Amino acid sequence: MENEKMIRTMFLPKRDASFSLSTAITARSGSGKTTLLTYLVNQARNDEEFKETRFVYVSIKQETLFDAPVVKDIPNLLKKMAKEPIVSYYPTNPEWYEEEVDALIESMFEISDDVEGGIVLMIDDANILKGWDSRGQVSSSVKKLTIAGRSKGIRGVFMTHRLANLPRLMNGNLSGAILLSMSEMDLDYAKKIFGVDLENLLPELTDYRWAYVDLITNRIHRYNPITLS
Ligand SMILES: Nc1ncnc2c1ncn2[C@@H]1O[C@H](COP(=O)(O)OP(=O)(O)O)[C@@H](O)[C@H]1O
Ligand SMILES: [Mg+2]
Repeated sequence: MENEKMIRTMFLPKRDASFSLSTAITARSGSGKTTLLTYLVNQARNDEEFKETRFVYVSIKQETLFDAPVVKDIPNLLKKMAKEPIVSYYPTNPEWYEEEVDALIESMFEISDDVEGGIVLMIDDANILKGWDSRGQVSSSVKKLTIAGRSKGIRGVFMTHRLANLPRLMNGNLSGAILLSMSEMDLDYAKKIFGVDLENLLPELTDYRWAYVDLITNRIHRYNPITLS
């Protein structure tokens, strides 16, 4: 990637850094979100700054591109995290997805003081969860992760199809958004809720081109598609 430091801005959990609030990854289905996330996290693993960081990838669709162990319950997750830098977690019961994700968030808060390099908690396809829309109410655990995660060294990465899937309370609590091909319907929401004008950017985000919208500095960083290996 052109700028190594940007990976830190996007993913590094740092208890006192302005850039370490949660990150959103938003784009249409099939636009390359999961592929890009996997690539960027693998890049981060090459960076000394992330040496002690633990990455937990939650896939509600039960698919992962990471070359990492998969677990389906929290005791196993904690066991794997002791040794593995990346672990994938699959919630198992559609009736209880929200509760499973909440329990996972709570357990990350319980261990965070002992994880020196911080935890990156990535929730893919979060828009499947109840309450994930501009008018919905997310759980108190998701709220806690969004608002208090940084102070505990936990960085949320929330992946959704639409910007409007991001609960309103995330306004002011995100440091940035990674965007790929998006719906024009998102332009208004971006302006109204996040205060950013994406009108020029949106038509550029074709063929897996992507951008990082820094919501702290209000800068937009544009990137060429990653090359699949
Ligand atoms: N940079 C890229 N270049 C070529 N193909 C890509 C690229 N990124 C993703 N793809 C392909 O596009 C498809 C959808 O990607 P995926 O990451 O699953 O999208 P999403 O998570 O947004 O639904 C996959 O078949 C993937 O291999
Ligand atoms: Mg995906």
